[in-house]
Amino acid sequence: MHKCDDKLKTLHFERLSPICPCCKRIYGKESELAIGSVVKEKQSDIIEGILICSNKECLREYPIIDSIPIIVDDLRYYISHNIFSIMKRTDLSAVTESLIGDCCENDSIYNSYRYYISVYAFDHYENLKNGEKDKSSIAKILNIAIQNLGNKTSGSIIDIGCSVGRSTFELADKFEDIVLGVDLNFGMLRLAKKILNEKKITYNRRRVRLVYDYENFPVNFAKTENIDFWACDALSLPFKSSTFSLALSLNVLDCVASPYDHLISIRNIVNQNGKIIITTPYDWGNATAIPSWIGGHSQRSEYKGLSELILKDLVENKNHPMYLSNLKIISEIDDISWNVRLHDRSTINYQLHMMVLEKVI
Ligand SMILES: C[S@@+](CC[C@H](N)C(=O)[O-])C[C@H]1O[C@@H](n2cnc3c(N)ncnc32)[C@H](O)[C@@H]1O
Repeated sequence: MHKCDDKLKTLHFERLSPICPCCKRIYGKESELAIGSVVKEKQSDIIEGILICSNKECLREYPIIDSIPIIVDDLRYYISHNIFSIMKRTDLSAVTESLIGDCCENDSIYNSYRYYISVYAFDHYENLKNGEKDKSSIAKILNIAIQNLGNKTSGSIIDIGCSVGRSTFELADKFEDIVLGVDLNFGMLRLAKKILNEKKITYNRRRVRLVYDYENFPVNFAKTENIDFWACDALSLPFKSSTFSLALSLNVLDCVASPYDHLISIRNIVNQNGKIIITTPYDWGNATAIPSWIGGHSQRSEYKGLSELILKDLVENKNHPMYLSNLKIISEIDDISWNVRLHDRSTINYQLHMMVLEKVI
């Protein structure tokens, strides 16, 4: 292990200067992180190492594992709750993996892990196997969003809740600046990073129940030098205010504990005239307690429980107690189709609401 010098800093680390999420919460300070130590490196990428908070009163450490920096406020909680994905071995053959899957319960951590990877890897990449580039529903959603962006922005881009990364790759292709994909799911990030480094995808595609087919095929994207993937929390993004010119939150709003804090955190990291793209089916799940939902209940109110009306009001109505100031709606589309395939005999079709916002001062 050795102390690093400047040449070990990666492009994304230098350009984005991430900050300590703990210092932000405890002291309200934007303390930059420094590269504390590098254990393993390859070219300009740190495979394993430790980032450290530059604030002497804090000095909190954040690990880089499998070249994914983990920059979250409660690291102890994150590591202990994601220990399976972080420590999961990836060297076993498909036949052994299938036997292990048969031995675990349907709702075991192992079967949930490969199920979610299969759902998003299929949507993001499966069509590339046959070269049908525009058939992925996430790539189509992204195209619609970009067409409705108004003036094209220039500057750093963040793809929040990027999952296995297809939208991040597409953004790098369509823009000239650096793109960062962030998510909290370590297994998904590891797959995205593997695709970035190896230009191929390997995953188990769910056929039905506990039956999976091994997939392995090449994928090629442009300007991959502009891409990186980090583990960060959408509710407490570890960046200084005004770091990004474009932020995307594709189908994440209804998956987080506090959709409102997610919106506040995005607004903070986007610069003046920067854009924010939000798509969501408002299909509130277990991650969000009912009082934190934006709509989806209280149908007797003037909003009739309609989430899209409430979100719009939060942005436009200065008298709303939770008014999200400094945001302007640029465009809005309802009913964008998003297909989420669960297995060969089941696909969910969502109708997304999309909003493009501009940050105005
Ligand atoms: C419904 S998926 C959408 C994935 C991808 N954007 C797409 O549209 O295909 C929601 C994603 O948000 C991620 N996520 C959930 N809560 C998060 C949080 N607090 N911070 C960062 N990512 C989060 C999940 O791990 C998952 O990858």
